[in-house]
Amino acid sequence: MKPYFSDQDVTLYLGDAIEILPTLGTLDAVVTDPPYGETSLDWDIYPNGWPQLVAGHTSSMWCFGSMRMFLDHFDDFAGWRMSQDVVWNKGRGTSPATDRFRRVHEHVLHWYRGPWRDIYHETPRVQLMGRARGGRSSRHPGPSTHSAYGPSTWQDTGARLVESVLHAPKDVTSVSTNPTQKPVGVLELLITYSVPPGGIVLDPFAGSGSAAVAARHTGRRAVLIEKREEQCEAIAQRLAQGVLDLSAEA
Ligand SMILES: C[S@@+](CC[C@H](N)C(=O)[O-])C[C@H]1O[C@@H](n2cnc3c(N)ncnc32)[C@H](O)[C@@H]1O
Repeated sequence: MKPYFSDQDVTLYLGDAIEILPTLGTLDAVVTDPPYGETSLDWDIYPNGWPQLVAGHTSSMWCFGSMRMFLDHFDDFAGWRMSQDVVWNKGRGTSPATDRFRRVHEHVLHWYRGPWRDIYHETPRVQLMGRARGGRSSRHPGPSTHSAYGPSTWQDTGARLVESVLHAPKDVTSVSTNPTQKPVGVLELLITYSVPPGGIVLDPFAGSGSAAVAARHTGRRAVLIEKREEQCEAIAQRLAQGVLDLSAEA
């Protein structure tokens, strides 16, 4: 199938993911944000069966969604096991409903198939500075401790696992008009976790193409599918801007 856009890092297909997915080859991971089927937007129809189709190409998948979406379509994820859930705190609410708590977050669930030891995962860490290091590091400065498993050497470098609640405002710089755009900074963490350097991430519901921008920023490649032609055009323009895309800094 002829791509709508391609360069050395990114291949973008215009069309329905349900039809295009079976034609793709092996990929390292999926990082995607499907239509939740919860709004009146004309494209917001949950595409039944897509998790089974991507299972033919990879054993690792990050999927954005609301808890309602995951519960409504739970059977669609049969055969996938959940490793963890992350929350994106977007700071500003998007729901017009006034009879519920103001919704300022989205879930991102990581799913896998087969043995966990076979799943590539590189947990991102942050470097703590100054007093923030405190706690265990000051009580156990290492090296040389003993555990039930014998002597070990442990040196606190100040690095800590990235926490499961990610605070990031919506990106503001984009040629896209997609109201559901996800921040490149959050996507970079998910891609770094699940795709080895130089590997390929698939986003079958590409929207504004943020996953491809994040893939580029992190030295990975991306395959995208998007059903709406105007969005494909926006993605192609955005990617053609190349290094001028500053949305990760937004
Ligand atoms: C929630 S948005 C993705 C937003 C994206 N993560 C971003 O950061 O911009 C979902 C996208 O999937 C597209 N879409 C909906 N159904 C599709 C289908 N069956 N195949 C491919 N794309 C589809 C919609 O046009 C929309 O752009």
